[in-house]
Amino acid sequence: MTIFLTGASGLVGSAFARAAARRGHRVVGTVGSFAGEIEGVAQKRSLDLGDEMAVTAAVLDAFPQAIVNCAAISVPEQCDANPALAQTLNVGLPATLARLAHHVSARLVHLSSEQVFDGARATPYAATDPVSPINLYGRQKLESEQAVHAAAAEFAVTLRAPLLMGNSAAGQRSNHERLFADWAAGRTPRLFTDEFRQTCTAENLAEVMVELCERSDVRGVFHWAGAELISRHALALRIRDHFKLMEKQAPLTSVTRAELPEVARKRQACLALNLAPLAGKLKTRPQTIAEQLKELNVPVPVREWYHGL
Ligand SMILES: NC(=O)c1ccc[n+]([C@@H]2O[C@H](COP(=O)([O-])OP(=O)(O)OC[C@H]3O[C@@H](n4cnc5c(N)ncnc54)[C@H](OP(=O)(O)O)[C@@H]3O)[C@@H](O)[C@H]2O)c1
Repeated sequence: MTIFLTGASGLVGSAFARAAARRGHRVVGTVGSFAGEIEGVAQKRSLDLGDEMAVTAAVLDAFPQAIVNCAAISVPEQCDANPALAQTLNVGLPATLARLAHHVSARLVHLSSEQVFDGARATPYAATDPVSPINLYGRQKLESEQAVHAAAAEFAVTLRAPLLMGNSAAGQRSNHERLFADWAAGRTPRLFTDEFRQTCTAENLAEVMVELCERSDVRGVFHWAGAELISRHALALRIRDHFKLMEKQAPLTSVTRAELPEVARKRQACLALNLAPLAGKLKTRPQTIAEQLKELNVPVPVREWYHGL
């Protein structure tokens, strides 16, 4: 099928393009500022996704069987820094894509976030549990879910995704890539021992999204994540060990939420996700941390630093 993919240059978008091409789909992928080639993208379109008329023209030109939305302002601090732009990309764009999906009768796969929850409880959140975002990013992702399913209920599926590992085109987007960037620059990341996430890789999430393009019987809002809950500090230790880095090459500072209340106030303590009923419907399996680590590459921008150690 022809798939119109927004955010083809992003962490998830580039993984999706590769996964969709492997399954024989034709991907028309949009980029913003990214200039390089993207594996799996048959037709690349440079587009300002804040321009509704340009988005509409591009979708109608592609006339896809599926629309996959991987574009967003996906860093909470960047949403706070430019709320109007974030509103356009995180809410306006998905609403436009949903109207277009309805118009051309295309499947719509949209991405939301675990951050629609406040993270105040330790037990896994079901997709049907009450939401209560604590930051602007979380509120916008929630608004996007509502807009998407109001405009294209019979075509849309939304996945709430967790903190992501994986390999991005620019090598600076995912959890392990940001750790490497700190270490190569001589910085010591400060990580919470009591902030828990159920991380998965962008590649694993992308496999799920390709399945969902092909499974139009699955509609509504669902959760996807990894198979294990882990603290940010413990995850960084696993990443350091996996790449055989020593403490002096890759230092870490552990902190607790009580030690940094001002920082902790804006962050969720525990985001455990219940993957039912979606996990039972799909071929793709949630990954353990060990499986995720095996997929990670040394990020391109720090390869010289790493191999020179
Ligand atoms: N990363 C995570 O840990 C995480 C966790 C949970 C959920 N999510 C969700 O997953 C989705 C994908 O996130 P991601 O991490 O893959 O994002 P990302 O790496 O930051 O990529 C964002 C994409 O959006 C494009 N974009 C942004 N503004 C644009 C504009 N004005 N015009 C055209 N393109 C624009 C970027 O294009 P250029 O780079 O070419 O400009 C890039 O392709 C988002 O919905 C995010 O909220 C992410």
